[in-house]
Amino acid sequence: MINEKDYIKLTDVIYRRSGISIGEKRFNILKPKLEVYMNKQNYKTFREFFHAIRFDKTNEKMQDLLNIITINETYFFRENYQFEILINNVLYELDRIRAIDKPIRILCAPSSTGEEAYSIALHLLEEKYLVEKRDFEIVGIDIDSNVIKKAKSGTFSKRSVEFLPLKIKDEYFKENGLLYNINDFLKEVVDFKVINVMEKERMKSLGKFDVIFSRNMLIYFDEASRREVATTFYNMLNPDGFVFLGHAESMNRISSTFKTRKYGQNIVYQK
Ligand SMILES: C[S@@+](CC[C@H](N)C(=O)[O-])C[C@H]1O[C@@H](n2cnc3c(N)ncnc32)[C@H](O)[C@@H]1O
Repeated sequence: MINEKDYIKLTDVIYRRSGISIGEKRFNILKPKLEVYMNKQNYKTFREFFHAIRFDKTNEKMQDLLNIITINETYFFRENYQFEILINNVLYELDRIRAIDKPIRILCAPSSTGEEAYSIALHLLEEKYLVEKRDFEIVGIDIDSNVIKKAKSGTFSKRSVEFLPLKIKDEYFKENGLLYNINDFLKEVVDFKVINVMEKERMKSLGKFDVIFSRNMLIYFDEASRREVATTFYNMLNPDGFVFLGHAESMNRISSTFKTRKYGQNIVYQK
């Protein structure tokens, strides 16, 4: 039902909406998924499907499409050295320069199913000193509405909790058959929302942050979209705020406005 020409038309619409550059390589993987969706929705031709997406007033069809094409791989304590730098260095630096009556605000953009945002909360709880001293707010956003629903549910697979120390798994999770439920109070600590990082006004409506984690999303963007997002992050940060990127990502070539800070071999960006 979908040929390569149709696929390119779709990838173009997706790129303009989300910044995601899907590329031709994923055609064979996405074609059957898109066709299953088209059948379920009773579209007889690609033309009919494409028209519905382009003239979708409710945004539901576009949301379905985005939910199909996003890659949501994540797990607890992924690239854990970055959480350690956050807790042992960055937050102590911020604690010294931020008014004590103002919360330190951390954004995970994108959060996917929530493991990254919850990992930050777990590290903070384990560190104890900072959470006892002052307030923190953690917000997780993602363009995919399915992953945000999952993040809010706080239910995770065995694979997702695989790298958690046993002590943390025992203390903050309940086994539920093959799944793990995070404790209810942790679900109240993190605020999850469906937001596209390319929508500047919605991003701005989240307010200012002290730290932004943006790991493993910019790798799916082209350089123009990466630049746009880097500027959005810069504008959303309080003075001296920090950005953590994934290990395969860098601000080189996309933004010269951030200072680079080195913690051991690792780079964190600062406003
Ligand atoms: C591989 S996951 C990364 C999750 C987590 N940060 C990590 O590193 O484990 C990438 C996520 O980026 C999200 N994403 C892609 N484009 C986005 C956009 N324009 N706005 C918000 N989220 C987006 C996808 O839906 C997906 O859940």
